[in-house]
Amino acid sequence: MKRISLTQYLVEQQREHGHIPAQLRLLIEIVARACKRIAIAVNKGALGEVLGSADTENVQGEVQKKLDVISNEVLIEANEWGGHLAAMASEEMDTIHVVPNRYPQGEYLLLFDPLDGSSNIDVNVSIGTIFSVLRKVTNTRGVSEEDFLQPGKQQAAAGYCVYGPQTMLVLTVGEGVAMFTLDRETGSWVLTENEVTIPADTKEFAINMSNMRHWAPPVRQYIDDCLAGKEGPRGKDFNMRWVASMVADVHRILSRGGVFLYPWDKREPDKPGKLRLMYEANPMAFLIEQAGGQATNGRQRILDIVPTKLHERVSVVLGSKNEVQRVTELHQAAA
Ligand code: AHG
Ligand code: MN
Ligand code: MN
Ligand code: MN
Repeated sequence: MKRISLTQYLVEQQREHGHIPAQLRLLIEIVARACKRIAIAVNKGALGEVLGSADTENVQGEVQKKLDVISNEVLIEANEWGGHLAAMASEEMDTIHVVPNRYPQGEYLLLFDPLDGSSNIDVNVSIGTIFSVLRKVTNTRGVSEEDFLQPGKQQAAAGYCVYGPQTMLVLTVGEGVAMFTLDRETGSWVLTENEVTIPADTKEFAINMSNMRHWAPPVRQYIDDCLAGKEGPRGKDFNMRWVASMVADVHRILSRGGVFLYPWDKREPDKPGKLRLMYEANPMAFLIEQAGGQATNGRQRILDIVPTKLHERVSVVLGSKNEVQRVTELHQAAA
């Protein structure tokens, strides 16, 4: 079987669709290389002294793990010098990181969740890196946080790397979703799945059930109906999965369908949800839509939301189209 590398895939996409400028190609290759470095650190685990807490807190009020900090540094260092970026933003940084003066400034903005699934690091369960790429649309010199406040539908590319039994890179540049598996012997990313599609229907849901008592009525209604099984209104039995690494849960959904919910709940009534719009929801929503699925916040399409601040949070419902539609209709009916 002929093997296609990430580089070849990007070159061919450029030839066929002509929408991957050289700077964007460089950016994706650099992010993929950074993910390889993160994968090496993740794989070393205790041997590399990378497990455990860093004893610092991030802007989200979460205690940072050593790997959260290491992954953030790897991504910044890898992306600073290439001349493809104007600035970066991350779950683990209070404010944006502008490319230093000693390097040329490019036209792209890179956003990332350097290490997703922090609570799974120390227990050897799949974790990942999520990234999103925007274009700096204003022509003004310099770059500010405002340049990042674009709706997700303007993403030029998005993807994630999952550090699991296999290390895989999943990518969209707006022409479908492709999956690459890291060949550890050769060190290259090999295309192993192209034109990924999510089935419209599913019998599998993903939600943190321990929050049930805090949910809003539409979410409760939806899950109650699923739990009622064959005898209930859905007329079929449902299965549940919750890895607690969004990357792993989304990867399963891209692979065999399903629906993922991290809804608003009463624990923190003033926050729209737990997950971050720019580092988690937008890139995942872009991938899911590109694979034929849907992503909403219960009321509207995630990719249409115009962010008002960098670390904005959002409710997330994504995955198999008919299921997401059902959850969204329940919310709309309750409004
Ligand atoms: P992060 O590790 O980047 O902070 O994100 C964790 C997120 C997401 O990966 C996952 O779906 C969710 O938090 C898990 O939350 P619970 O611990 O509430 O299940
Ligand atoms: Mn975190
Ligand atoms: Mn995350
Ligand atoms: Mn994270």
